[in-house]
Amino acid sequence: MTSQKTILRALAGETLPTPPIWMMRQAGRYLPEYRATRAEAGDFLSLCYNSELAAEVTLQPIRRYGFDASILFADILLLPQALGADLWFVTGEGPRLSTITTQAEFDKLVGPNDVHDHLAPVYETVKILSRELPSETTLIGFAGAPWTVATYMIAGKGTPDQGPAHKLREENPEVFRAIIDRLTDATIEYLSMQIQAGAEVVKLFDSWAGSLKGDAFTEFALKPAKRIIAELKSRHPDTPIIAFPREAGDGYIGFAKATGADCVALDNSVSAAWAAEHVQKDGCVQGNLASRHMVTGGQDLIDETREIVKAFSNGPHIFNLGHGITPDADPENVQLMIDTVRNG
Ligand code: CP3
Repeated sequence: MTSQKTILRALAGETLPTPPIWMMRQAGRYLPEYRATRAEAGDFLSLCYNSELAAEVTLQPIRRYGFDASILFADILLLPQALGADLWFVTGEGPRLSTITTQAEFDKLVGPNDVHDHLAPVYETVKILSRELPSETTLIGFAGAPWTVATYMIAGKGTPDQGPAHKLREENPEVFRAIIDRLTDATIEYLSMQIQAGAEVVKLFDSWAGSLKGDAFTEFALKPAKRIIAELKSRHPDTPIIAFPREAGDGYIGFAKATGADCVALDNSVSAAWAAEHVQKDGCVQGNLASRHMVTGGQDLIDETREIVKAFSNGPHIFNLGHGITPDADPENVQLMIDTVRNG
């Protein structure tokens, strides 16, 4: 049966005359209505765990722009929090977590099936959204990939080069492997519950995949994604999965086939022409306009948007940014991007 929703059609391998479109971090600080709702919630994490308000901010960019998909409002760091890590956000700096680098610290984490009470508000947000979204809008659930989430759990914060996680990987491979395995198992349960609650597509964000090279990329980016996707496909065979091994470079080649993903999301370090030839030949791709165009706008935005649409026009494609939109973006530039994609 062919679904009418354009994103699901592209994910099923259909080449559409106009690519469907959504945007990473489309609910976010560049929107005044997001900032108002976040203030009402109190802070970012309170917003994530307030199902009514999280659903409200998810819907805001749909009302304003009519994107073809909406992504659940939550964060990849809610899962480590559910596993037992402390989590807080420092304004202007980003996330902070209690660190896990020893066997004793690892042993305090809960099991992969013990995360659901903590994450119940997220599943409730998904349920509200599947009732309230327009019938043509696809609902995307998500989780962080094990490696990316592990980099935050090990360092206790974001790091420029993921140094602490690489160090643990080399110096204490047993504990490192245990963290990756626990995250892999818990991610399967978390995404499975999102699908049961109404997510129609799920996306796996491996934002730091690019810092894994060679065998390490295979072991800790590719294999966990493959295991998560295989298990989700066995439980929910009709739910498409988007993988985002950001900055994987050549690692993008064959990634969908090797992991079973229905689509790979591309960052903007690869050109659309290159990705059309080497990645889109295996199926749907998503991407990859540079986020900076949402700040700078103008003819550059129009030219680059057209180039990306054209480069991917011979195969299945979902238009998106190469990474999340930034808080300094101008909401009018988002409209200009959408108009350019839809009207040429
Ligand atoms: O895309 C969406 O609109 C859905 C919601 C979403 C958020 N984070 C909301 C958010 C998604 C899919 C994420 C994923 C996420 N979170 C990733 C992977 C994608 C990527 O960007 O690489 C990562 C690495 C995180 C962890 C995280 N969350 C960091 C490092 C930060 C701080 C940096 C920043 O942008 O402030 C966050 C905070 C965060 N997550 C915000 C939003 C809207 C901003 C928080 C705020 O409102 O103050």
